[in-house]
Amino acid sequence: MKIVVTGGLGFIGSHTVVELQNEGFEVVAIDNLSNSSVDVLDGIEKITGKKPLFENIDLRDKPAVQNFFNKHKDIAGVIHFAASKAVGESVENPLLYYENNINALVYILQELTNLPQANFIFSSSCTVYGQAEKMPITENASVQPAMSPYGNTKQIGEEIIFDVANVTNLNSVLLRYFNPIGAHATAEIGELPLGVPQNLVPFITQTALGLRKELSVFGNDYPTPDGTCIRDYIHVVDVAKAHVVALQRLLKKQNQDKVEIFNLGTGKGSSVLEVIHAFEKISGQKLPYKIVDRRSGDVISAYASTDKANDVLGWKAELSLEDALTSAWKWEQKIRS
Ligand code: UD1
Repeated sequence: MKIVVTGGLGFIGSHTVVELQNEGFEVVAIDNLSNSSVDVLDGIEKITGKKPLFENIDLRDKPAVQNFFNKHKDIAGVIHFAASKAVGESVENPLLYYENNINALVYILQELTNLPQANFIFSSSCTVYGQAEKMPITENASVQPAMSPYGNTKQIGEEIIFDVANVTNLNSVLLRYFNPIGAHATAEIGELPLGVPQNLVPFITQTALGLRKELSVFGNDYPTPDGTCIRDYIHVVDVAKAHVVALQRLLKKQNQDKVEIFNLGTGKGSSVLEVIHAFEKISGQKLPYKIVDRRSGDVISAYASTDKANDVLGWKAELSLEDALTSAWKWEQKIRS
């Protein structure tokens, strides 16, 4: 069965292509290489023994999207990762975010809903919950006003999918990711942040290698046990596997609603200092860090209730924070060697 993965050479996309190919799916990866490299195809081939088909398409190019769907009429499903995801950049350049994250989604749905079956997996984010009142966060927690254009594109994306599913053959699973980290255990694929990493784990691994002088910990005066923020860090391979399970649910028509929402997390919250200490343990080296002011827009705590994903989707995160940090560290050392 032919599955389209947009952003298929990106961080979560590439790991999902691997899991899809391992399950026997034929994958067509779309990517505009704005935040990825064609070399990722080699990494995927090394792991799975097969290169996916690859199309260098910018999904903001509507005629290109139309051509693509005209060429591939036998698509059984689309997993849509391609999007911009830097919160700060989205504040600086909101129109880039609305164009890249919303226009592309609309163009794909316009084409997909013309096919006999329109199965669609959407990358959403725990950012839609803002600072939730209760931990762990269930899928019923209310969606809070977005704190950035990036967050808004995820909320609007979800709403677009509900509206379209109401009146078309669209069936969709919205996956709200908590904090995906790590790399494939083979270190053939992983995260490739452009420039200075904004996210915690790539900053840690780059600091450990000496590429950055020290890590800044954004605030230690939060109302948490050690004063630093708490997040639910989930191994990217677990996240990737959840996409395959969600896709199979749609393909087998096991979904109970036309649009279903699942959190993807481990259910366990870890503070910034806990992540640092876990990293020090697995790498056997001290990580230089200093405490600085809070970063604007950070919520105090966010970790997932995994009950719905466990019970309804039948998926559970299997890998630990230590597994994820070990793989991220192995990957960082490999790409810099
Ligand atoms: C961020 C985004 C989120 C997005 C996700 C994926 C914000 C507010 N949220 O999640 O919407 O979906 O990235 O890109 O930007 N930290 C440090 N020092 C650092 C980097 C991070 O102390 O150099 C801390 C942060 O304060 C936070 C934790 O580490 O407490 C995790 O940060 P990060 O990896 O950026 O993820 P989120 O902010 O949770």
